[in-house]
Amino acid sequence: MPTREHHAPPPKLPLFARKVRYGGDYNPEQWPRETWREDVRLMREAGVDLVTVGVFSWSRLEPEEGELDVSWLLEVLDLLGAAGIGVDLATPTAAPPPWMAARYPETLPVDERGTRYSGGSRQHFCVSSPAYRRLALRIVEALAREVAGHDAVELFHIHNEYACHVPRCYCDLSAAAFRAWLVRRYGDVDALNEAWGTSFWSQRYSSFDEVQPPRATPAFQNPTQVLDFARFSNDEFLEECRDEAEALHRVRPDVPVTTNFMGAFKPLDYFAWARELDLVSTDNYPDPADPDSPMLSAFHYDLIRSLDKSKPWMVMEQAASRVNWRRRNVAKVPGEMRATSYQAIARGADGILFFQWRASRFGAERFHSAMLPHSGEAAPSWREVVGLGRELASLGPLAGTTVEADAALVLSWPSWWAMEEPGSPAADVTLADQVAWMYRPLYERGVTTDVCHPGEPLERYRAVLLPSLYLVTEEEGANLVAYVRQGGTAVISFWSGIADERHHVHPGPYGGPLRPLIGCDVLDVTPLPTGDEVEVEWDDGRRTVADLWVDIAADRDDGTVLARLASGPWSGRPVVVSRGVGDGKALYVGARLDALGLGRVYDRVPALRGAETLAAAGPGVERVVRSGGGVSYEFVINRSGEQLEVPLATPGTELLSGKPVAGTVRLEPKGVAVVRRG
Ligand code: GAL
Repeated sequence: MPTREHHAPPPKLPLFARKVRYGGDYNPEQWPRETWREDVRLMREAGVDLVTVGVFSWSRLEPEEGELDVSWLLEVLDLLGAAGIGVDLATPTAAPPPWMAARYPETLPVDERGTRYSGGSRQHFCVSSPAYRRLALRIVEALAREVAGHDAVELFHIHNEYACHVPRCYCDLSAAAFRAWLVRRYGDVDALNEAWGTSFWSQRYSSFDEVQPPRATPAFQNPTQVLDFARFSNDEFLEECRDEAEALHRVRPDVPVTTNFMGAFKPLDYFAWARELDLVSTDNYPDPADPDSPMLSAFHYDLIRSLDKSKPWMVMEQAASRVNWRRRNVAKVPGEMRATSYQAIARGADGILFFQWRASRFGAERFHSAMLPHSGEAAPSWREVVGLGRELASLGPLAGTTVEADAALVLSWPSWWAMEEPGSPAADVTLADQVAWMYRPLYERGVTTDVCHPGEPLERYRAVLLPSLYLVTEEEGANLVAYVRQGGTAVISFWSGIADERHHVHPGPYGGPLRPLIGCDVLDVTPLPTGDEVEVEWDDGRRTVADLWVDIAADRDDGTVLARLASGPWSGRPVVVSRGVGDGKALYVGARLDALGLGRVYDRVPALRGAETLAAAGPGVERVVRSGGGVSYEFVINRSGEQLEVPLATPGTELLSGKPVAGTVRLEPKGVAVVRRG
């Protein structure tokens, strides 16, 4: 095993030099001027020092085509700047003004059945429409020219949640752009025919002009066409984002740009997006009614931290309490917002912002919580917001410290796009479920985990996990095999290494470029009927169960079988197999083992065992360490409803109470401790 290289610390953006930033979306256009002054006063009381302004302001900034009115925005920036509150200047391109649809109806997007969306909401635009692109860039350039130079501007916020509501547009303009994209990708139509496998169902094209987006069809669509359309749609949005970023950077190269991501959001390949930004930011809305929320939210933050490991990241949006877009919008219990905020900081965030600063009185989101609720300072959540703001001020800067992970989970967006398609053996096997299955024990054991692209350098990790890496390119496969040969450990789940980048099946036994890591021959697969379980017998005679899926595999001399199926028609077949490869080892898991079974696999991998002391403290404890420059911060968070006594790694100063601590800390339900050393 080569010496592990640690992450280079992210560049110290001036934005984060003094403290963890705090604030939210500020929408002054919804309020009269008198309120702006009260906003600034209350923001100061809450310790707010960064607000996103202008994110849905297009119709106020350009009330009629070509007529710009930025005076009100400059006035707001003056007020904020004078109060020492930094501005995250947003571009308003996620909500075009009504005049655009009226004058340029082709800017409205179209769904796969040919229905054109209306305005009156947001994200009603086709990103491939030249008129939208021209008008979007024009307002961004105007903001760059007229507003970006304001002293209060510290960050640029491009657009809002790209592709959130309309991830794909199927209009004729999109079709033309898709064809141009295909010409760039394939060069000639024969190459497209070959890649798309058009000899199936008489789909052969004689010219690119015949190709359409995958609009509604009578039966299954061509899977490669669908995959390429996902790639194309991602690229179109990214190109628009890049244009906006360049327009802003031309005027203010010193101000970092970001756009708000949404965690594991399927339509956009955030690994590619993160490369284009100066810092990564995300919006996270865990459901307080879902007991899995702490785990899912931890994964969300681990993913965001990992998208570009050389860049800082922050939470751009979270809710102070309720959202308004689930069927039931349960409020966060006291302490929950604080615990989730520290969860993000522990996992590397340098800023905690909310949607939104002041609760709206009108519009679609009037029942969404805000930092300042309808009941204002009297509301219980306001006290929590103020409390957290004060704490963050006392925490000091954490920027430049990093979260070191020994394990990594491998994820690829093209694989995700390809895997979940109706023609697969089980259309209800989703990547999100697979990831949660493999991540949950890591979360529970306190194993800090990064998320990696299959093609990126992996040698710094002691173990990598592959939850159903369905589509693997030759280069990605070679990278993963080289990682193991050089001493790494890989844990690979079923339904991995199935397709190549054209979405063609690798010839069996399955595994494609991952086959050198699989110590058995996967000859076929079978999903199980819902509710069915099979027994699994381990090499020590113990039994666990599996559900959802089993591989039908055969033994091979070069693999060591750790467990076999022990009931049902495939009884006796290998299901957990270890194989030594070079200086490393690969463990193949050919069924969805239950928690006990998967735990037994992880127990065989030292990097996945986790801290026993943490497990002893009881369920619901999270511990993550940020360190750098000779200082470390141990974050301990009690997500449970019980009081817990949690052992600490070494003594230090608990920053939130200012007291020295050693041995253990007592945490109230939802309690947090941040122990500084050095
Ligand atoms: C986000 C969005 C915000 C707001 C929020 C409500 O997805 O970026 O503008 O709508 O959800 O939870």
